Amino acid sequence: FEPVRIAPSLLSADFMNLGRDVALIEEAGAGFVHVDVMDGHFVPNLTMGVPVVKQLKKATSLPLDVHLMIANPLEQLPWFLDAGADYVTVHAEVLDADGLARALASIHAAGAKAVVSLKPRTGVGALAPVIADVDMVLVMSVEPGFSGQSYIEGSEDKVARVVEMARAVGASPLVQVDGGIGPATAARVAAAGADVLVCGNAVFATPNPAAALAEVARIADE
Ligand code: DX5
Ligand code: ZN
Repeated sequence: FEPVRIAPSLLSADFMNLGRDVALIEEAGAGFVHVDVMDGHFVPNLTMGVPVVKQLKKATSLPLDVHLMIANPLEQLPWFLDAGADYVTVHAEVLDADGLARALASIHAAGAKAVVSLKPRTGVGALAPVIADVDMVLVMSVEPGFSGQSYIEGSEDKVARVVEMARAVGASPLVQVDGGIGPATAARVAAAGADVLVCGNAVFATPNPAAALAEVARIADE
């Protein structure tokens, strides 16, 4: 039995007190720090980038889980790897099979873990070229772009399909879910096979983020 790990999303943290919030989630038992990088092109929103990842690397020993919601991951990947990203997520929507292979190769060559993500309307078939080589698959359960959105019902079915697809080729990547995950949704995605839950508002938009994190973890492991 592997406990489900929580990856709090810093997008919902207090940017004027980022060091404090990272220390808080580390102390509270988070498994990763989820860093949402948005470029204003692949998604409408614009968030943080390489300089923030560099600073985070010095501030925490938790693995940095860098979710690249950007149009040109192949160009920017080397910078994020240099900055200390431990897990790097690229979106299947912006890369063909060859691009995906190149992204995975460059992530692995840097000693980091490679993650491929699917937007809600992207079918699991997009994972076919990489399912045997990825370290983690990220299933988006909201349209990427903003924290605090509602979980898209049925996303857990996609989690189950990814688990099945991996099993069929003898692979066992971690499966991560991102978007609208909290006390009301953690149990069903965990039951479907999710290993890592990204939580933005469910952790940071609460009076006690440490307690909120522990509560989501408890519900997921029930
Ligand atoms: C959405 C981001 C998510 C988001 C999660 O585009 O990838 O990581 O910040 O926030 P919540 O948990 O509030 O949906
Ligand atoms: Zn994310």
